[in-house]
Amino acid sequence: MNRLKAAIRYINYYFVSKTKHAIHPPFTYTLLTKVILDKKFKEDYIIPETIRKEMLKSKRSIEVKDLGAGSKENYISIRKIKRIAAKSAKPPKYAQLIYRISKHFQPTSIIELGTSLGITTAYLAQSAKNSKIISIEGCEKTSVVAKQNLSNHNFSNVVILNDNFDNALPLVLNDLKNIDFVFFDGNHRKDPTLKYFELCLQYVNNDSVFIFDDIHWSQEMENAWEIIKQNNKVTLSLDFHFLGIIFFRKELSKQDFVLRFY
Ligand SMILES: C[S@@+](CC[C@H](N)C(=O)[O-])C[C@H]1O[C@@H](n2cnc3c(N)ncnc32)[C@H](O)[C@@H]1O
Repeated sequence: MNRLKAAIRYINYYFVSKTKHAIHPPFTYTLLTKVILDKKFKEDYIIPETIRKEMLKSKRSIEVKDLGAGSKENYISIRKIKRIAAKSAKPPKYAQLIYRISKHFQPTSIIELGTSLGITTAYLAQSAKNSKIISIEGCEKTSVVAKQNLSNHNFSNVVILNDNFDNALPLVLNDLKNIDFVFFDGNHRKDPTLKYFELCLQYVNNDSVFIFDDIHWSQEMENAWEIIKQNNKVTLSLDFHFLGIIFFRKELSKQDFVLRFY
């Protein structure tokens, strides 16, 4: 039933979404044509995709503590690493979009909520080599694999914290003080998503960028996305169905776009 609803939401997106030709504000048009729709291959994609290939080939299994949406509290299961890589990591198309946005804006501080095996983390590390990247992962064994993946490729600008977002996020925010870029990719439920959004909101600046994963994955996430878009501080929202991006630039007049990305 959930899959059917998700398919209907995607069909709706297909018909509602607009192409770049419908976009007029210069900031959005330039971002869309020069950054978002830039399909050219980049050398920086090689290492993250090497990690993905290694993970997809792995024969190992690990104990996974499931903290995300729909999971029972502290539920532990044994999962194949290759299955986690196939199911949890953002696919190349979207991980590379996140890379390009970060590369374009060069944030000095990046937070990722939900490291998993560190594949998108590696993209973020490639995108802003002088930035401080903090990625939070609640499952200990998964975070160990992610740390190994990043240290194998000598990423020195990333810190992976093994903790629940509820504990770690307030501490990280308090430490960084100013947040330029957040990728929300864990605990896809309405209340936790809004809670993490509101926490991060206290530390935004005019140039901050927030990216939310799977904004149409469930009715709860759709509701959360609606509330996020309507927040007074949000001046621009871009809906790419599997990702939603928001900006806080005061020079923009408030607009919400549903855009094609296929
Ligand atoms: C979809 S995966 C992240 C994928 C990763 N960003 C990527 O693209 O490669 C979500 C991760 O968030 C973690 N997670 C979910 N809820 C959490 C919570 N409340 N605290 C800490 N980690 C959590 C899960 O353990 C899972 O590994």
